[in-house]
Amino acid sequence: MQLTDSLGRNINYLRLSVTDRCNMRCFYCMPKEGVVKKQHDAVLSYEELLLIAETSVGIGIEKIRITGGEPLVRSGIVGFLARLTAIPGLRHLALTTNGMLLPEMAADLYHAGVQRLNISLDSLNPATFSEITRGGDLKKVLAGLDAAEQAGFPPPKINCVIMRGVNDGEILSFAEMTRMRGCAVRFIEYMPVVKEEGWQRYCISGEEILKRIAADYPLEPVDKGAFAGPSRDFRIPGAQGSIGIITAVSGHFCSDCNRIRVTSTGQAKGCLFADEKTDLLPCLRPPDRARLAEVLKVIISTKPERHGISCDGYGHRNFTMAQVGG
Ligand code: 5AD
Ligand code: SF4
Repeated sequence: MQLTDSLGRNINYLRLSVTDRCNMRCFYCMPKEGVVKKQHDAVLSYEELLLIAETSVGIGIEKIRITGGEPLVRSGIVGFLARLTAIPGLRHLALTTNGMLLPEMAADLYHAGVQRLNISLDSLNPATFSEITRGGDLKKVLAGLDAAEQAGFPPPKINCVIMRGVNDGEILSFAEMTRMRGCAVRFIEYMPVVKEEGWQRYCISGEEILKRIAADYPLEPVDKGAFAGPSRDFRIPGAQGSIGIITAVSGHFCSDCNRIRVTSTGQAKGCLFADEKTDLLPCLRPPDRARLAEVLKVIISTKPERHGISCDGYGHRNFTMAQVGG
């Protein structure tokens, strides 16, 4: 079954956040003090998350990505992932993580059936990494990359948010990772979601990032696979991994958008930047599969055409990415 929205976009991808808590405090994502802890019963139980996943697959979703906050900090996550992979009709299960807990968890995740990892990594320099993440440990994340490879995962996708004056000097080092480690590196435009002090200076366009790489390396365009995200992909000839540019702010990938999102408190959104959200709780407590399916179909059919975020000014309310799952 194909799910199509009002603009003819094929919606086959659900991003499901399992927690808004995180063991890092990336400055572009969260205020220093972190996010206000949700009351225990505000966060969906694994049963409820599973019901959303099963119902979504029942109406045509084929790929689920588990996000956070940091999904690996939620206890019982491995068992939950194993239950997800058992859903008939689910073709692809991926997980986005900051990598800190991968050294101890990568093998379990692999055995639970997770097919691919996206690892957020914005700097290969320990001091810059610690400045961005306010306390993350680069050594652990790099050990996590190794652990994922040893566990049997294909080379991960690395998500790298580039900020001028912070880590833009490392663009070429990340491009090199596509050759040295075979990773797919996706450069993400910094999005002013927290509006931290002086955020304007961080903005750098995907176009500029690409130009800087192209000044040093020949790049060839890459065709996208079935579940490709909204990145434009290139390859340094001979490299195993690809280089992707996600122009979340400057570019308009909205026309290719294939996803919906559900937060860990059961708020469904057709677009990351939409202020409108739909509370799924009335369909979950008590569980009502038929109603949930109807509500999810409405969210898909009324998915906004495009978002209004920009580096010059924007119309959405502030939020932290950890609350909506990136
Ligand atoms: N701008 C760009 N990317 C962001 N992410 C979180 N906050 C922002 C932001 N303000 C990214 C993280 C992670 C993904 C889940 O979302 O780097 O890779
Ligand atoms: Fe945590 Fe990811 Fe937000 Fe960083 S970007 S604070 S790792 S949820």
